[in-house]
Amino acid sequence: MNAIIFDLDGVICFTDHYHFLAWKQIADSIGVYFDEQVNDRLRGVSRMDSLDIILEKSKIEYSLEEKRILAEEKNKRYVQLLNHISTADLSDEVKDVLQELCKRGYKLAIGSSSKNTKYILKQIGLEHYFDAVSDGTMIKKSKPDPEVFLKAAEMLQERPESCLVVEDALAGVEAAWRGGFFSAGMGEAATHKHVTFPIKRLSDLLIIMKE
Ligand code: G6P
Ligand code: MG
Repeated sequence: MNAIIFDLDGVICFTDHYHFLAWKQIADSIGVYFDEQVNDRLRGVSRMDSLDIILEKSKIEYSLEEKRILAEEKNKRYVQLLNHISTADLSDEVKDVLQELCKRGYKLAIGSSSKNTKYILKQIGLEHYFDAVSDGTMIKKSKPDPEVFLKAAEMLQERPESCLVVEDALAGVEAAWRGGFFSAGMGEAATHKHVTFPIKRLSDLLIIMKE
């Protein structure tokens, strides 16, 4: 394997709760029930697809324009919350693993559905760290479609079978598998039937990836 493509939210930094708070505000404003369990289903899923999942519980049909406004509102709130993250939110474990893998000669990339990827990377001080950043602003179809990872592999000039995708979302492991990538899955992603390496924590990558 020559390269490692990391998902961002839930792997490199932990924005889950901010997504939850921002969506909760939107759901409350339109009287739709929303809890952590629904939030879990949004992991790795694009903003608009997330909204469709939330609106499954709504009795009202929303037009595309109304949905666009709701998604925009959610993002405004989310970005306000993101202002609170800083280099202090980059854990020592993540920092050490990235540094060691880089030292071992692997190319490193990001493959995230988030349109806020560049902003988050800047906030945590990793803006210029990766050889390639493929994100939600560059793709038409979000995970479980493999597009975001295929784009990352293309930017790295690597074939999928030479790359490991690191994920915390079931949709992410599914995308990796559909695209012909190896995968390492943490949390619920470790339970996907097609995950190559179920891992407990990011530092387990140092056992999987040879020196
Ligand atoms: C990541 C998160 C999802 C989120 C998606 C889009 O994949 O895991 O929960 O919906 O990014 O994020 P965005 O920042 O573009 O709204
Ligand atoms: Mg994730």
